[in-house]
Amino acid sequence: PDTDRLDGKHVITVEGLSDWEKAVYIFAFGEAGAVQCGFCIPGMVMCAKSLLDRIPDPSEEQIRFAIRNNYCRCTGYVKIIDAIRLAGKILQEGKIPLPTATDWKIGSRVHRLDVAEKVLGYGKYPDDFYMEGMVYGSAVRSKYARARVRGIDASAALKLPGVVAVLTAE
Ligand code: FES
Repeated sequence: PDTDRLDGKHVITVEGLSDWEKAVYIFAFGEAGAVQCGFCIPGMVMCAKSLLDRIPDPSEEQIRFAIRNNYCRCTGYVKIIDAIRLAGKILQEGKIPLPTATDWKIGSRVHRLDVAEKVLGYGKYPDDFYMEGMVYGSAVRSKYARARVRGIDASAALKLPGVVAVLTAE
């Protein structure tokens, strides 16, 4: 959204959730299996809070509308909607239930170990890491949809200032 519209508004991020709300969203998103890479989750959570603060028991249509501007690259949204519905139920009941599954074996629907960091947005992604002397890499892709690579001439690239290496299959 354009930031001018935020002038004079109160903005809350996941850091502004109460400890109770944090615990509820961590449980609900873990229980529903709604967290995959987690990149979109703090935004989903804040849309959920905005909705549940106004409508404690929303319909699926209202949940879908509330998250309409958030894009998840990983899920089909079904589990995120389940998580929001469950968060609403727990917020109303005032008690976090026990997880459905606690048996750590293949196929069991236990909560992922990284749910909290993904829900609260402190999880680290590769782009968050900086190291001394770090260099950046980029893939150069063919301009052609179908082609046979007969050779790769990296000499011009290697002459560019700052280029450390050109990596090929060789
Ligand atoms: Fe990966 Fe939503 S969980 S983008």
